[in-house]
Amino acid sequence: MSARDRLRIAIQKSGRLSDASLDLLARCGLTFRRSRDKLFCFGETLAVDLLLVRDDDVPNMIAEGVCDLGIVGRNVLDEQFLAAGCAGQPAGFRELRALGFGRCRLALAVPQEFQYVEPAQLGGKRIATTYPNLLAKWLERAGVDAGIVSLSGSVEIAPRLGTADFICDLVSSGATLAANQLKEAAVVLESEAVLAAGATLPGDERGELIDMLLRRIDGVIQVRA
Ligand code: PRP
Ligand code: ZN
Ligand code: MG
Repeated sequence: MSARDRLRIAIQKSGRLSDASLDLLARCGLTFRRSRDKLFCFGETLAVDLLLVRDDDVPNMIAEGVCDLGIVGRNVLDEQFLAAGCAGQPAGFRELRALGFGRCRLALAVPQEFQYVEPAQLGGKRIATTYPNLLAKWLERAGVDAGIVSLSGSVEIAPRLGTADFICDLVSSGATLAANQLKEAAVVLESEAVLAAGATLPGDERGELIDMLLRRIDGVIQVRA
């Protein structure tokens, strides 16, 4: 990828983190001109442009140098970090800052009538998730041998369909679990929105922009705390 002058930040196009991500950047003094396709937003106040993408695509876009920074859930970042490790590749991204919004839990959830006491009860069962690597690590630490059913979405209906006994998914308000007659049983990962960057920061003007942006972000976070 050829060198760029302007910094690029990827954020979630539409979802839980979108509005708060835009709000944080606005508080940092960044304003953007929305382009017609709304996927690329030109930065007006600084040489910082915005890419609106699927949250799951943020880590790889950073690793490939398509963008320099990203705002994404720690759940997505850690899952893909572990996946890279499993594939024997160094992850080309890392967490720079926890941003204090989008708090949620990656949790094990069981049917409401199930009496959950301890991880040992999961032995030999099937657990549906979009986070197979984080779940596998948690199960391994708990010394439990369970089957992981990897799905790309709609994990919550798996127990009702009989394709899994339990699920491991993000819980924010808990409304999705309740609507599917499930309850939270154990926390696998505490998550929130984080600022992600490449393994090494660019040494050019973009690096200076990142330093400045980090100072502004730290200021905004301090005021909120
Ligand atoms: C998560 C998760 C649940 C929902 C839980 O999806 O997969 O569907 O949020 O939220 P609740 O406890 O408030 O009901 P999310 O929107 O984070 O992302 P995704 O579509 O990228 O999976
Ligand atoms: Zn997603
Ligand atoms: Mg979802």
